[in-house]
Amino acid sequence: MSAEMDLDLRQALILYATETGTAQEVADRVALECRRIHIRSRVLSMDAYPEEDLVSETLVIFVVSTTGSGAEPRAMSDLWNKLLRADLPSDLFEDVHFTVFGLGDTAYEKFCWPAKRLTRRLEGLGAHKICECAEGDEQHILGIDGALEPWLETLSKSLPELMPLPHGLDILPSTQTPPARVSLVNCSNHQVATNDPLDHDHDYGLATVKCNTRLTAQDWYQDVRHIEFDFSDNVEYSPGDVAVIHPIANADEVETFLSQMGWGNFADDLLEISHVHKDQSLPDHLPRCATLRTIFSRYLDFNAVPRRIFFRYLRYFTSDEAEKERLDEFLSLEHADELYDYCFRVRRTIQEVLSEFRNVRIPMNYIFDVFPPLRPRQFSIASSLKKNPHSIHICVAMVKYKTKLKIPRRGVCSTYLSRLQPGHQLRIRTLKGFIRLPANSDIPIICVGPGTGVAPMRAVIEERIQQNAYNNTLYFGCRSATKDQHYASEWNQYSVDNKLIYRVACSRDGPEGVKKTYVQDLILEDADRLWKLIDEGGAYVFISGSSNKMPAAVKAALRHAVVTCGHREEVEASRYPLWQQAGSSALAVLSN
Ligand code: 2AM
Repeated sequence: MSAEMDLDLRQALILYATETGTAQEVADRVALECRRIHIRSRVLSMDAYPEEDLVSETLVIFVVSTTGSGAEPRAMSDLWNKLLRADLPSDLFEDVHFTVFGLGDTAYEKFCWPAKRLTRRLEGLGAHKICECAEGDEQHILGIDGALEPWLETLSKSLPELMPLPHGLDILPSTQTPPARVSLVNCSNHQVATNDPLDHDHDYGLATVKCNTRLTAQDWYQDVRHIEFDFSDNVEYSPGDVAVIHPIANADEVETFLSQMGWGNFADDLLEISHVHKDQSLPDHLPRCATLRTIFSRYLDFNAVPRRIFFRYLRYFTSDEAEKERLDEFLSLEHADELYDYCFRVRRTIQEVLSEFRNVRIPMNYIFDVFPPLRPRQFSIASSLKKNPHSIHICVAMVKYKTKLKIPRRGVCSTYLSRLQPGHQLRIRTLKGFIRLPANSDIPIICVGPGTGVAPMRAVIEERIQQNAYNNTLYFGCRSATKDQHYASEWNQYSVDNKLIYRVACSRDGPEGVKKTYVQDLILEDADRLWKLIDEGGAYVFISGSSNKMPAAVKAALRHAVVTCGHREEVEASRYPLWQQAGSSALAVLSN
């Protein structure tokens, strides 16, 4: 067999399921690794792949993230449901080789469950694991890369065992610059359409900003906004759903960045973007032609904290010996802590790194390889469509913090949202969330949503009240009754009208040194009443918040109610179907 024919057979399918885009970046990274071993790969989102073809694949590498409380990403649902069918033969995938890389966060429960379950199910259906699966943890000092990089090394050893290298070919050294995924050609002089693909995506509706108001007191450290969007066309969503917003980077920051890179003079030249290497993806909704200014305003993120692969590209594109040496050190796995100290611990951004590595010259064709995509952000919708037809409200904390480098930072999307003025227009889509309300309006609900976690609870409570369902309880947590008690007047009015029992824990209003009061403390105080709501009323419990530890503490408090008021032993209480009773999709632990 000729080497070329041999190469034709060396194919891998990389299937990813992502919620926020990280799994897609990892899939691209895996494709890069496959290329080193002369394996051609196709990178596809699971929902874009015809599941019935899976059985005829030779090699499939799955990259699967985790969402909700241990749930699979939306893009995986169809495939997963088909794989779960009971009538599938146990040797269905006997010709398929696979491995799985999971993404998750050990701060949340059910770490990487979708990846674990997928692995088990594929093995149960006869597929062969080519190497141990791995799980990337956002809590690792290097983030997902902490597990990804060693796993890629294992993968690059295992793959040639499955598909021996054709005669005369060696694994390409990682020091060899891979080809760029696009080619950019100046097309300023041609007549080209510069349509915005977002305008033609029917999932997105045109929204007009109606108001953008600060919920927290002016002198409060945190700026939390209530933003209302009106839609001229129909907009569809239910409580618990999320709004997807595409940020645009701040124009001044884009300007500074472009001139720092030496690209200022041709930032407004129109470039035709040809996707040459399709095993590396491009940002969604990228137009065929765009200027560098548009690309760095809307599609590529120079404000992100870089991944490890970014430093590999810097290494390719510097001519300076001292920089090379430093980058080699960063890239060696033995010195992982140096890269951590330099970059991740202090949350140094790509732009800041580039301003230090001054001899790096990034060829223009490589921008889509070097810079990560500027991702759209998801926000829990804070309104009910029944109460606010044609509109979406969101409740967002403006991300603003000082790094250990003492540089004040603002999130790209926060900066964008904070500047939105009434009348401003943008495209927004909605996505299904994880909340299911009781069908029967007599069934009580218990909502726990401290901080901006209250956003989806506002949607739930508004919806219930519109349905004349008044057996609602809300546990809200804030620091100060007068400074950050979001939507307090609405909750108090509902209470007066007997439509809501409102309980608020203000953690910092007590005297200094006295233990803080949190939502779980109020739940412990209310154990009797809550137990009755749950045991007799079959209450649904919803939890949402930005603090990682809060959901576990709230659940422990509810379990305690089962022990003390339900008179169960601890073990029995731990088995009490607190969440199942609510329906597995009803317990929503959303991070906001
Ligand atoms: P703190 O910041 O005073 O610690 C909204 O952010 C509220 O949630 C604040 O009052 C915050 O309190 C509180 N919070 C922080 N950690 C929490 C936890 N583990 N459980 C419950 N509430 C928490």
